[in-house]
This record gives sequence, C-alpha cells and structure tokens, in this order.
Amino acid sequence: MFSITTPIYYVNDEPHLGHAYTNVLADVLARYHRLRGEEVFFLTGVDEHGQKVDQAVRRQGIVDPFAYVDEMAARFQRVWQRLNISHDDFIRTTQPRHVQVVQAVLQDLWERDEIYRGEYTGWYCVSDERFWTEKDLREGACPDCGRAVERIVEPNYFFRMGKYQSALVEHLQTHPNCIQPAYRRNEVLGFLRQPLEDLCIARPRSRLAWGIPLPFDNQYVTYVWFDALLNYVTAAGFLTDPDRFNRQWPHTVHLIGKDILTTHSVYWTTMLMAMGYPLPKTIFAHGWWTVEGQKMGKSVGNALRPLELVDVYGVDAFRYFLVSEMVPGADADFRIERLAARYTVDLANTYGNLLQRVTSMACRYLDCVLVPAAGGEQEGVLRARVEPLPDTVFARIENFQVSQALEAVLAGLAETNRYLEICSPWTAAKAGQIERVNTILVHAAEALRLCSWLLLPVLPDAAQEALRRLGCADCVDALKWNTARRFSITSGEPLFPKIA
Ligand code: MSP
Repeated sequence: MFSITTPIYYVNDEPHLGHAYTNVLADVLARYHRLRGEEVFFLTGVDEHGQKVDQAVRRQGIVDPFAYVDEMAARFQRVWQRLNISHDDFIRTTQPRHVQVVQAVLQDLWERDEIYRGEYTGWYCVSDERFWTEKDLREGACPDCGRAVERIVEPNYFFRMGKYQSALVEHLQTHPNCIQPAYRRNEVLGFLRQPLEDLCIARPRSRLAWGIPLPFDNQYVTYVWFDALLNYVTAAGFLTDPDRFNRQWPHTVHLIGKDILTTHSVYWTTMLMAMGYPLPKTIFAHGWWTVEGQKMGKSVGNALRPLELVDVYGVDAFRYFLVSEMVPGADADFRIERLAARYTVDLANTYGNLLQRVTSMACRYLDCVLVPAAGGEQEGVLRARVEPLPDTVFARIENFQVSQALEAVLAGLAETNRYLEICSPWTAAKAGQIERVNTILVHAAEALRLCSWLLLPVLPDAAQEALRRLGCADCVDALKWNTARRFSITSGEPLFPKIA
C-alpha cells in the first residue's frame, strides 16, 4: 500500500500557493500510484490548535473559536475540492477521534515515565504572549517586537526526547532513504551533533487555553506540535480501527516543507520510538516558493491565492505549472510569465495542438474512425520514443522526480508533433493515399493516447477529455503501446484555448 500525508495546515490563514503546492504534489503522487494499480491512502487536514490560531481568534474578537475553525477548515476543503485533490481523509485536530488519541498517547507516556514534570525556563514576551530561548533574543529583547522580555521559570511537562538521540542517529544512518532529498538527511544529522534536549510538551492554561488538556493535569494544554504530529496515527486508525492501523502503519511518505523538517524527523520520530511503533518510511521535504524573488507572506501582502490563478488559467494548467516548475526538493520562484509560458508552450501548443491535429484530420479524412495498421520506419522511431514512457515516468515518480517525469511525457508529445510534420498526412490525403493517412494518424493517436494516460495524474480533467475524444477513456492495457486499436474519434474545441 502507498500512503501519503501532507502537513496539516494552521487555520489562521487561508490556503496560499505554498500550501497548494504540497497538496497538488501529494495528489499527483497519489494518482500515479493509483494509475499503476496500487492501493493508496492519501491524507490531508488542518491544524486547529495552538498559539497562532488562538491569536487569530482573539485578534478578530471572535467569541466562539469552534465556529472560527469550522469556517476555516471548510475554506481549505473548498480549495482542495476546486484543485481536484483526491484525498481519502481530511483530519481536523479538534475532532474527537484525534483528541482521544492525543490524550491516550500522553497518558501512556506519562505512566511509563517517558513524560515527566520539570521546570521550564525561558524568556517571555508579554506583548507577543510567547516564549523565546536565549539564542532567539536580539540584544536581549524580543526578536519580533523589540520589547523587553521577562525571564520566567515555571513547572511544566517534558518528553524525554534527549534519551533517543543515539537511537535516532543510528536510524538515520542505517536508513538512507528515510529523509529525502539526501542533503536534508545530512542536515538533520548535523543538527544531532549537538546534545538533544527534552521537549516541553505543554502550555499552562492560564496563558493558552486553546488546546487539548493534558489528561493528567488539566491546568495545562498540549503543545501544538505534540498534538499535530499525532494526526498521522489518528487518521491511520490508531484507536478506532486497529486492523487498518496495522496494515497502514507506517505511512509510506510524509510530504512536508523544508521548514518543518526538524519537527518531523526529530520530534515525530522520537515520539514514535517512545510509543513503540515503526518509524516513518520516508519524510520528503520540498523547497519553498518565493514570489518574484521575495519571500511570500501575509505581512508582505504578496501571498498568492490559488483560486485567483485557477480562475484565469484553469485547474489543470495551475496543477501542471506547480509540479513542472519546481524540482521537488529545490526552491522555485513564482512568476506569472512562467505560468503563462507553460500554458502556451507545453499545454496549448504541444499537447492541445496535437490533440486538435489528430482529431480534426481523423474526422476530415477518415470519417472519425482510425483502424489498426502496421507501420514502417518512421513509425518504428516514434514507437521507440513513446513505448518506454510508462517505465520512465514511474521510475522517476518512485524517486519523487515529478518535474522530470513530466518532461519525458512532454518530449514524447513533441516527438509526435514532429512525426506528423515529417510524415505530412495532409500531403498524403491530397494525393489520395487514404491508407497511409490512416497509418500515420493511428500511430499519432496511439502515442497521444499513451501520453494522455500518463498525464491523467496531473491534468485529471484535460487528459480525461483527450481520452474521451480519442474514444479510449476506458481501454484495456492502457499503459501498453498497441496500434491494433480502433479509434472512434470525436472532435471538439481546443483543450487550452488562448487566454485573452
Ligand atoms: N501546522 C504545521 C504543520 C503540522 S504537520 C503535523 C504548519 N502549518 S503551516 O500552515 O504553517 O505550514 C504548512 C506547510 O506549508 C509547511 O510544509 C510549509 O513548508 C508550507 N509552506 C508555507 N509557505 C510555503 C512556501 N512559500 N512555499 C512552499 N511551502 C510553504 O507548519
């Protein structure tokens, strides 16, 4: 089974381009694995507790935080629906199924002395209502607002994370693929050269009431990361469905952004060690999007809202742009000209145009029916380029090389356009060589059909429509080259029309 998770997003903001990227990438991976016939479980959701959400609620003078998180969770769901995200479960950390898991895990760790009561020391900024460590301070003051900070010592609860340091290092060294790309694993190993401290896992209710109460001390709520990371076990059926949990755990991939690598590879992995469950198979950290060279954020005022782009370019083009423009792992810069260029060059001129040529010529010259035909040398060249594409694509997907997988398919489509130029079916038609026209078009149609199947995970609507027009939306052996097919063709409007 292939199971993939995204981070759960804080509901203090609406989804932006960065969030959309993770969910589209996860969706594309999930769909490729389904296309290959694998059983897939795909999880996404929202992180509803913690200081950020609490602050958003208070800043807006909202009386009922539950109504606020309901509304924000619904907004995320609406965006994912519009982007054609095919998740199997959407988890919210305020759901009773999750609260029960968090409390059960805390109680168990407490009883087994994996959690202890100790003293927390930190620098507190009253204005920001948050703690900073000594290292964070800027000239002894709050790095955020510049105001004076108070040294606070308070009783609190700690998870014995430090004692797992050497086990964690050994795990990372013996499982080279557990954090990808490889340089991210080295970063974590570098971080682990310093002593690993225990993790404070609670906040006094007097300072932050919005969270899951500790089951053994209701004057405290659970630290938001300790709560959030457990979503992955909750959704796998940890308490509710042990059979499914045993089959599904651990997930194949936790897809995350590079900024939350430590929380996943250090906090989460050691939490699982203490709980006594198998560790994540792969944590894949992708890079960050900037916008026209600038960091994207609410405060800069340049956070891109996915649906505004979708309204102009359509869902498929937006999805295609995200996963073809960013090499998974590396950073990428958003520029509207790049989106426009991908739309025009790859989707309209290469893919859409090929479909338009094949379908319109099939209908003009051959009454919309292409019959099986054996080819000659040119057809052999085309076949040699297109037939291996499924293997190439799946091998790259296996290694998270989604943009490279798409490059291979686009090269196959470009090759098919070239094949048409070289074979010139319009000249053959003028000369009355109808059999030759059929041979050329059936080979082009087969290449286009195979490429369309391979584009389905990225362009679910457009590729489906292309297959429908080729009359093979549900053909057998879809990923095998076969020109012994009969194509019953329907023509239609361009898939990617010119944008005004
Ligand atoms: N709630 C935590 C995650 C808990 S997972 C158990 C959180 N939420 S977040 O909403 O702040 O961020 C979620 C994800 O969005 C992170 O993976 C982060 O990397 C990603 N991104 C935020 N801004 C981004 C870009 N500009 N570009 C790409 N991804 C970005 O952290």
